[in-house]
Amino acid sequence: MSTAVAIAHPNIALVKYWGKRDLPLNLPAVGSLSLTLSGFSTRTSVTWGAPADRLELDGEPIDGKEASRVFRFLDRIDADRPPVHVASTNDFPRGAGLASSASGFAALALAATRAAGQELDRTELSRLARQGSGSACRSLWGGYVRWDVGTRDDGHDSVGRPVAPLDHWDLRMVVAVVDAGRKKVGSTEGMERSRTTSPYYQAWVDTAEADVEEGTAAVLARDLKRLGTVMEQSTLKMHAAMHTAWPPLLYWQPGTVACLHAVHGLRNRGIGAWATMDAGPQVKVLCTPDDAEAVAEALRPHAERVHVLSPGGPARLA
Ligand code: DP6
Repeated sequence: MSTAVAIAHPNIALVKYWGKRDLPLNLPAVGSLSLTLSGFSTRTSVTWGAPADRLELDGEPIDGKEASRVFRFLDRIDADRPPVHVASTNDFPRGAGLASSASGFAALALAATRAAGQELDRTELSRLARQGSGSACRSLWGGYVRWDVGTRDDGHDSVGRPVAPLDHWDLRMVVAVVDAGRKKVGSTEGMERSRTTSPYYQAWVDTAEADVEEGTAAVLARDLKRLGTVMEQSTLKMHAAMHTAWPPLLYWQPGTVACLHAVHGLRNRGIGAWATMDAGPQVKVLCTPDDAEAVAEALRPHAERVHVLSPGGPARLA
């Protein structure tokens, strides 16, 4: 029996991943670019060689689909593995469009391989984490991270890689939690529904690579207006493909729209603030540290809670 504990942070995509070209391997239809954030974290303990397979999330025993996703992931580490006990806690809402699957599978990949006595390098860990949840491959790294779409059928070249470390550019992501409830349609199902039913899906895929290039160049040049513009447009294009799927994927709530208008109001007042969203109603706003308080103040009337998050580091062993 051996236990290892790992901590990972969520990452928020600056240029979005939405759509898969291979479901079992989680190979993306598009490349993406992200920022790993401090402030929120997942802590996961893995005991390799337990009496039976057992999963606990935030103190509650879990079974069903969520548990089989975790145990199938552990089978990828060792097909002849012993029973494993996984206990994971988040200090932020899970399954609400706040990237808990990214930090969750990044922490799990690191803790589980270590508990199993394997020493994988970061790229190998990123490749493994991707198979649990696509966006998790980016949380193995800190700071600004790119996930390449790759061309190989086995996914070997579809991994997260660092673009710039967290101290390259000190930005803030102001997170407006509009509704912390669990989302009704998970990302995997939502992506497949968009791919198979939205007439806008192909346009989304066709324009994504240029956005990843533009976003990467903006990060390297530390050009916030350029990055914010491509980020907000990538988000709205992704949501256009969601809204035009059938049945429609309408993750937005009234507070979401109010936050987006508040962000545009800030820009009209000359404050550099740009919005992004994921598969949920929450709005995340990118800005400089100096503007973070003004941004938080503009979002507060429309949100349950507002968090100001800074760039964060890579997944690590505790
Ligand atoms: C909207 O990584 O959660 O947050 O690969 O099916 O687990 P699976 O999906 P997941 O999708 C994240 C989608 C997104 C955009 C992004 O993070 O790039």
